[in-house]
Amino acid sequence: MNVAVVILAAGLGTRMKSSLPKVLHKVCGKPMVRLVAEAAAALKPEKIIVVVGPESEGIRAALSGLSVEFGVQKRPLGTGDALKVAMSSLRGFQGDVLVLGGDTPLISFLTLRLFLAHHRKMREDISLLSFRVTGSHSYGRIVRDGNRVDAIVEDRDANEEQKKIEEVNSGIYAIKHSCLELVKRIKINKAKGEYYLTDIVKLAVDKGLRVGGHALSDELELSGINTRQELHAAEKFMQRKIVSAWMSKGVSFIDAESVFIHQGAELGADTIIYPNVLIEGETTIGRGCVLYPSVRIAGCRIGNDVAIKDSTVIEESTVMDGAVVGPFAHIRPQSVIGPSVKIGNFVEIKKSVLGAGTKASHLSYLGDAEIGKNVNIGAGTITCNYDGKNKNKTVIEDDVFIGSDTQLIAPVSVKRGAYVGAGSTITKDVPAEALAVSRAEQRIIAGWAKKKTAVKNEKLRKESKR
Ligand code: UD1
Ligand code: CA
Repeated sequence: MNVAVVILAAGLGTRMKSSLPKVLHKVCGKPMVRLVAEAAAALKPEKIIVVVGPESEGIRAALSGLSVEFGVQKRPLGTGDALKVAMSSLRGFQGDVLVLGGDTPLISFLTLRLFLAHHRKMREDISLLSFRVTGSHSYGRIVRDGNRVDAIVEDRDANEEQKKIEEVNSGIYAIKHSCLELVKRIKINKAKGEYYLTDIVKLAVDKGLRVGGHALSDELELSGINTRQELHAAEKFMQRKIVSAWMSKGVSFIDAESVFIHQGAELGADTIIYPNVLIEGETTIGRGCVLYPSVRIAGCRIGNDVAIKDSTVIEESTVMDGAVVGPFAHIRPQSVIGPSVKIGNFVEIKKSVLGAGTKASHLSYLGDAEIGKNVNIGAGTITCNYDGKNKNKTVIEDDVFIGSDTQLIAPVSVKRGAYVGAGSTITKDVPAEALAVSRAEQRIIAGWAKKKTAVKNEKLRKESKR
């Protein structure tokens, strides 16, 4: 049977104390609403409708690439009102409507599938996905009459007895399309000025419809994120899950608790990860790599047997097999670090390509450069790529030796096998196999220091006589 998904994401999220809509806060690098939508999309539903507020550009952007429709809730009048907004998009739809909160980011596709199976097997009109929790919290309590679900009572409306109920509402519902109309009969909760979707349960029960509750998972997976504390707990929980999955696939961690790996990143076996490493976005890391402490890699392709040494940042770039980068290196977007390249400490690379076996071991800036194979970039080399208006290109061909403290004033090229003497400022192209030196000739003034000392001593002698 068909399923349509509605994701409620129009709430203000006031408890987050944020200018960002709550569902845009990220868990493991992805906005919560996207995590929910991705879990829903895995069910291959007929459609996904996301209910958003009037200012929804951020949410629409966060869901780009997913096939979703939007319904706009003009004012945040509660979860019941939000579902009502989605109803016009469901006109003519025959099947089950799965309702999800955009703030329940850890929900898995497997749990959703299991939940739908229960809903169908039990032939329920409305099914609730519930879980057990103790202590103080703000979840709605599932009030049962024997095995039957009777109502959901919100925390703030619950009496002392009801507050003790341990089974609570995850905010995830499966509703037969024929029962959706009940949403329109939900009355406003006067105390809060909102239409509670949870009231649909009582309305259904009063009509003699079948309502069931299924505790199919736990608080870890089903928790709703309302506060920064809950967001942090969700982050930690998901991190542990991601890291543990990579361990199962052969990745070693020295201190897994301090490492953050986004969903969507890929790691090869026998890679070793030291503490405080962040792997962000759709990064892939090959086999046998070592990521030393405090490395951040965002949106990169890293090959096999690569060593990224301490405190190095690599963004939107490619690092090929056998390269060594860092410590304290910064590889900026659109760079390609070729096979067996060595990038040492305090080297910044931007939008540059370095061919196989090339070395830039110390204190350099290489920007907008095309550098060939087996090139040696001496310490302190700088490509002067910016003339105040435009970015210009530096080309260094294979087997070139650039002496230390060279400035290459772009646009300029150094042809195959050429040498540049240390301390040179290169303003003109250097032909193949040539040596370019552009520094003042060294002069020797014999005895200069000795004379200087003699003059000074004579002055002191005169002064002491006075
Ligand atoms: C809701 C449930 C509660 C349940 C909990 C599970 C109600 C009345 N209560 O409480 O029983 O235990 O979720 O996490 O439903 N939203 C809108 N428009 C609105 C209000 C909310 O789209 O006008 C969206 C929010 O963006 C959010 C979701 O609905 O994604 C839930 O809203 P929230 O205010 O967080 O509900 P809770 O108080 O957590
Ligand atoms: Ca919530």
